[in-house]
Amino acid sequence: MKTVITYGTFDLLHTGHMNLLRRARKLGDRLIVGVTTDSYDQSRGKLNVMESLEERMENVRKTGLADLIIKEELEGQKIHDIRKYGADVFVIGSDWSGKFDYLREYCEVVYLERTKGVSSTDLRSARNPIVYMGIAGHGRIAGRFLRESKYVSNIEITAVFGRNKERVRRFAESHALLEYDTEYEQFLDRVHAVYIAVPHHLHYEMARRALLRGKHVLCEKPLALARDEAEELFRIAAEKGVVLLEALKTAFCPAFQQLTSLAGSGVIGSIKAVDATFTKLIEDETAREYDPMQAGGAWTELG
Ligand code: CTP
Repeated sequence: MKTVITYGTFDLLHTGHMNLLRRARKLGDRLIVGVTTDSYDQSRGKLNVMESLEERMENVRKTGLADLIIKEELEGQKIHDIRKYGADVFVIGSDWSGKFDYLREYCEVVYLERTKGVSSTDLRSARNPIVYMGIAGHGRIAGRFLRESKYVSNIEITAVFGRNKERVRRFAESHALLEYDTEYEQFLDRVHAVYIAVPHHLHYEMARRALLRGKHVLCEKPLALARDEAEELFRIAAEKGVVLLEALKTAFCPAFQQLTSLAGSGVIGSIKAVDATFTKLIEDETAREYDPMQAGGAWTELG
């Protein structure tokens, strides 16, 4: 009995997936298919998977090609599965060529030619139009945001705003952005959504102007420096029917979500208090983080 094992997201099951499963099946007597869980996909940057794990597993089942369907939950699980199920062959599409050579220690590794012209990413893009996004600000965090955005389908960063023409031009050029502006309204007109990454004391005003122009806003923390300002922003967003989100990325980290859901399940009893610490060491005492005029200080900078 020769066992073949393969893995994938299998979102919006398409002919590329079918071809791969059919050929994989032919390499042995039994085929095991590992389907990635939502949290595993998120942790490796696949953020826009459309179907739930259950739907994707069901679609694989319906192909009639898999003898066993398992969940792939963790990086490094493949070695464990190969041993557990006694897999003789590990199969994956040629887009992964070379990446799984380390499994040769455990079984045969076969890269099958990928079917050309079809992918889940393309199918997702066809269903959801691309959101053109601009970045207001061009500091360190803006560069990191740009790099990270490449992992998200359906988002394209096209423009950057900054007040200093020379600096904003340099940022646009070094990140191959199509447009840069020193006029905020002109910049807003080019995009559907804006990521606000300017110094804190400017967040409220720039978020407000973007929302009033009907743009979705992802704003660095703190969204505003006073409660009534934040409430006003959410009111405008609701009136305009656009998304307003504060960029509290910790809330979206899989480990944090796991922590809050475990805590919520009551597994450690009823929670009486939460004690958290967040510190940051900045040696340069002239830095923005120390300047109250720029909303620096322990509360507005870190709080
Ligand atoms: N596959 C293939 N031919 C395609 C698309 C996928 O042979 N045109 C293979 C992949 O190489 C992998 C398996 O199908 O072995 C599952 O791939 P998955 O990542 O789920 O599919 P993609 O369509 O590549 O998804 P995405 O665009 O989200 O990366």
